[in-house]
Amino acid sequence: MAATGIRTVIAGTGSYLPEKVITNFDLEKMVDTTDEWILSRTGIRERHMAAPEQATSDLATEAGRGALEMAGVDPADLDLIIVATLTPDHYFPSTAGFVQRNIGAMKAAAFDLEAACTGFIYALTIGDLFIRSGTYSKVLVIGAEVLTRFLNWEDRETCVLFGDGAGAAVLVPGSDGKKGIISTHLHSDGSMAELLYAPAGVSRMPITKEAIDQKLNTVKMRGNEVFKVAVTRLSEVVDEVIQANGLGEDDIDFLVPHQANLRIIQATARKLKLPMEKVIVTVDVHGNTSAASVPLALDVAVRSGRIKEGDQVLLEAFGGGLTWGAAFVRW
Ligand code: ACO
Repeated sequence: MAATGIRTVIAGTGSYLPEKVITNFDLEKMVDTTDEWILSRTGIRERHMAAPEQATSDLATEAGRGALEMAGVDPADLDLIIVATLTPDHYFPSTAGFVQRNIGAMKAAAFDLEAACTGFIYALTIGDLFIRSGTYSKVLVIGAEVLTRFLNWEDRETCVLFGDGAGAAVLVPGSDGKKGIISTHLHSDGSMAELLYAPAGVSRMPITKEAIDQKLNTVKMRGNEVFKVAVTRLSEVVDEVIQANGLGEDDIDFLVPHQANLRIIQATARKLKLPMEKVIVTVDVHGNTSAASVPLALDVAVRSGRIKEGDQVLLEAFGGGLTWGAAFVRW
């Protein structure tokens, strides 16, 4: 707990999905795959794809607007905007700056954060610290990705997994000391960076014709190895949340997991002894939207009325870096 004794409340959530949907059957026509393989290995049926004119900030802006509206916060009053993304509009300036311009939040500081699929948990943690320290009182955190633009559409091992989207949350200081973010937990292991990365595109290997010809600017993943680390690390981090907060078996009302693979989600639910009715699953219709996945699933659960006032919610994510983390929130 910070010296101020303030607890950060999520006052609103929002999300945005581009209109175009790509089903597994569409992918069958593009690469050597089947709906049956994708569904049985990952739980994914379809994913959304941004229109050619849409960049990450456009998706982030829509999600941010939704969250601000639910929170009843005027963009002009925002103190800070953090966008978690691994697919920014440009390598500079920040995607958060474009969101700021789009929504007219001219008083706010704005920056991007890169922790791959764990980005939203990292952004939520930083936003929480700014609120609890008393520095800021209105923070917009967004996870947004246009991953379909960074995929090798000839590589069936990766192109079937990812989708585009954005999710957002507005953070404010709580008034009753009970509701809000109770704990956050962040981890990273850079020694396994090359299990999941894009080799070219920035300073290690700038974009060249050769890099593009070899598709080195697209997502490369050693899926099987990532899978095993994900299951282990997520099990550890949920244990950490349980220990840190002295939780019993019935203390978690909902799990909002990173939506990469239904089998990884089920493994975490089993670890927590949670029935699947208490797990928010959107991977079937969103695919893996990286930093957008947790806030997208959260917004779906909040707007559908599944997550209600008083519920205790565990958010977790795992991704490139490798990075992983969790947040425990009382709604
Ligand atoms: N269609 C048909 N067959 C395929 C496909 C496909 N789309 N993709 C792979 N295969 C084949 C492989 O070639 C392999 O064939 P082989 O046995 O003849 O060699 C076979 O299917 C099995 O491949 P595996 O890699 O062992 O399949 P696995 O069951 O591990 O599933 C998957 C692969 C879905 C990628 C899984 O490993 C996974 O979900 N990994 C974790 C992903 C993740 O969590 N990433 C982190 C977040 S992402 C981020 O941070 C950006």
